[in-house]
Amino acid sequence: MAGVNKNIVILISGSGSNMAAIVESSVKQRWQDRFGARVVAVISNKAGAQGLAWAGEQGIATRALDHTRFGSREAFDAALMAEIDRHEPALVVLAGFMRILTPGFVQHYEGRLVNIHPSLLPAFTGLRTHQRAIDMGCRVAGATVHRVTSELDHGEILDQAVVPVVPGDTAETLAARVLTQEHLIYPRALERLLAA
Ligand code: GRF
Repeated sequence: MAGVNKNIVILISGSGSNMAAIVESSVKQRWQDRFGARVVAVISNKAGAQGLAWAGEQGIATRALDHTRFGSREAFDAALMAEIDRHEPALVVLAGFMRILTPGFVQHYEGRLVNIHPSLLPAFTGLRTHQRAIDMGCRVAGATVHRVTSELDHGEILDQAVVPVVPGDTAETLAARVLTQEHLIYPRALERLLAA
């Protein structure tokens, strides 16, 4: 990835555990020295998102943009883009950002926009992935890091992790097992993009 400063902006909606894993990995793996890359901002569509407070404590710029205050999806995305673009990001990382993005947003960040989805794509796009995997009798489940295109949960697969589905699993126990792997593959996939 060309350029000297590779600013990373992360978008979250909730606990932000993937965001925290990425920030911690960026420090441990010395992304700043090796790639000129660092997480410069964390933005949430929910003011109360747990992850925002944590990011602030790490000295990262944080911002909440409440989507319910905007009249349309387009208006929210335009404000979000303005906020993101202040940081001139090389990568925009969706980490549990629970909003469907407009085609204009996706186009604007084409090639720079990545997401993690809690299933083995192309299986189980959309929501309730863990319950659906259990209901289908899947023996394995997992997570996928992928580039974002205008088609929901499609786009080039950058990394995947597989975990077993065990007897007695609930959506919650399976989600927790998958999440531990998300924390490994997301930083790893980003590091590969930064190194390319
Ligand atoms: C993760 O399972 C992610 O794959 C999904 O939402 C969850 C977010 O968790 N899109 P966190 O906010 O990173 O803890």
